[in-house]
Amino acid sequence: MKDAAVLASPTAYADAVASAVSAAAAYYADGSTPLGDDEYDALVRAIEAYELEHPDQVLADSPTGKVAGGAAEGDVPHSVPMLSLDNVFSAEELAAWAEGLERRLGHPVDGWCVEPKLDGLAVAARYRAGRLQQVLTRGDGLAGEDISHAADAVLGLPAELTEPVDIELRGEVLLTQEQFEHANQVRVAHGAAPFAHPRSGAAGTLRAKDRPYRIELTFFAYGAVGVEDLDHSALLERLAVLGANTAATTAAHPARCATLAQAQQRVAEIAELRATLPFGIDGVVIKADAAADQQQAGSGSRAPRWAVARKLAAQHKVTRLLAVEWNVGRTGIIAPRAVLEPVVIDGVTVTYATLHNPADITRRGLLIGDQVFVYRAGDVIPRVEAPVLEERTGAETPIVFPAACPRCGDAIDTSEQRWRCVRGRGCQAVASIRYAVGRDQLDIEGLGGTRAVQLVEAGLVADVADLFALTREQLLGLERMGETSTDNLLAAIETARTAPLARVFCALGVRGTGRTMSRRIAAHFGSMAAIRAADADTLAQVAGIGAEKASVIVAELADLAPVLDKLIAQGVGTAVSEPAAATAEPATEGEAGPLAGETVVVTGSMTGALAALSRTETNELIERAGGKASSSVSKRTTLVVAGEKAGSKRAKAEELGIRILSPEEFAVLVADQLA
Ligand code: IVH
Repeated sequence: MKDAAVLASPTAYADAVASAVSAAAAYYADGSTPLGDDEYDALVRAIEAYELEHPDQVLADSPTGKVAGGAAEGDVPHSVPMLSLDNVFSAEELAAWAEGLERRLGHPVDGWCVEPKLDGLAVAARYRAGRLQQVLTRGDGLAGEDISHAADAVLGLPAELTEPVDIELRGEVLLTQEQFEHANQVRVAHGAAPFAHPRSGAAGTLRAKDRPYRIELTFFAYGAVGVEDLDHSALLERLAVLGANTAATTAAHPARCATLAQAQQRVAEIAELRATLPFGIDGVVIKADAAADQQQAGSGSRAPRWAVARKLAAQHKVTRLLAVEWNVGRTGIIAPRAVLEPVVIDGVTVTYATLHNPADITRRGLLIGDQVFVYRAGDVIPRVEAPVLEERTGAETPIVFPAACPRCGDAIDTSEQRWRCVRGRGCQAVASIRYAVGRDQLDIEGLGGTRAVQLVEAGLVADVADLFALTREQLLGLERMGETSTDNLLAAIETARTAPLARVFCALGVRGTGRTMSRRIAAHFGSMAAIRAADADTLAQVAGIGAEKASVIVAELADLAPVLDKLIAQGVGTAVSEPAAATAEPATEGEAGPLAGETVVVTGSMTGALAALSRTETNELIERAGGKASSSVSKRTTLVVAGEKAGSKRAKAEELGIRILSPEEFAVLVADQLA
């Protein structure tokens, strides 16, 4: 959430009103907006603050106090106005709002209902005798647009209810994450531009007529007209019985809370679930549950007094695409990465975002210099979703795809969506071989930089296993390779053939394993064949390997299978025990680490040195420091790192009396591993 700027002059105020009006118009027309949700909210709050100070200067088209910022229109009158919600932006503001409501009522609220604020479009669906008659958008709140033509593509909005009742359902239509991705595939296949984000997709889809393709949407009911006198939670249950979809089917299900403290707790839980939900939410709605309380509180012209939205930071932000980098991964995959003008999304500064693959860039029609929508939620790698076409200036330039592998210059295999250097893992052969023959691994002297390049370029060696198949003749055939050097090299390779398993395994450079971890893995499995057959569960039995690291290692092993097979066939790495000196070497990770014996849960958003790490990287850090990373708090948890907005997990840790550290305190504890 951005702090609201202060508007210092009538001109600044008028400019702010104009920006808000045009953003609201775009938003309610097709869901697009060059302003992020956070920026729009901040702008409206600045306008409100100015109007409070200068009531005589309020402009007629000001968005304050109007449903849909005054932007939307429609021609079918609503039976009962479709209102908006007032917003609060923190637990404190929510408490103050609740206090105000109770003061107005003159008694405590008889229970709260806490539910997700679904990020889609409000609709009213009219049923007569249980049959769907008409679907309307919210419009300006008093009259909406008839979008009945779109109804049959909306899941959860049945054509017929389970009972022949007259009722008007109120709720939100949205694209779930899956529907959004599918919609964009379908659109691109039809030559249409992909939707920038799910909400604009839902808006565009609901209003479109005569499209040559069908896009499914999802409806969630959160209210109704024509069913009086039910408490809100009972109403939601009734709507589900009638056959309408409600948020009760989701992890973020509505909950009736007896006290505000419990309601705050549920708000935190829903906020925490956000990243894992299969649909977007932009807040949590808190409603006085009792019908009597709602009737007594009544509504203003814009919003009910008995409900409020606790807004969450936007997950989509607009920023500029500065460049595209092409990085060659360990397996030869050539992956594009967007370089962005830094933008803060939900408290984290995003500078890079994934672009998946070249076909994806083409599908999205991106250009360098474009303003783009970037999406980031929870632990996911930020991704670029779409350009903001209205913002193009003409100065944008095409993204240049590489014609040759950016690392080795060899050809690119473009037959799959993900481009790959034709050398595959071999693209990094020289670097991997240099690492493998290093003193701490196979310790093969005479294979310094130029020799490794020579061997790879002569096609004699593509991976470390090939070293063990080299013949005297092959080596003698190389330039500047005399008999003595050849014999010395062959002798060093023969010695390495009997190197302990731990060193051979270490030489493979498996991501997530260093020397200590390689020793532990070797000691645990005993043979290369057993390591090759390991699955994530068995790997996780090794000290210092949590679920996260185990799955990385499994993927690496699968990729390295051909190399492992060659090593096994050549009998490399059959010596199990390490020389005593090496085993006695103090561990730099694992048992001796600062988190030895600890099971650690990280929750909330990280600050300080940890802010730069993804959740996966943080978990890897914990494992490097000898601890076990876990995602849920239980009796086995020994330490919780609680950042800002840590919700239910922190509460549970407090309840169980588990040690809680701030991200900064934790960073000090693992300073060595962070460095
Ligand atoms: S209650 C009279 N509940 O948020 C009650 N609204 O920003 C007004 N929304 O116009 C709405 N999820 O489109 C309610 N669980 C929920 C909601 C919800 C999303 C939307 C709705 C409303 C807008 C206000």
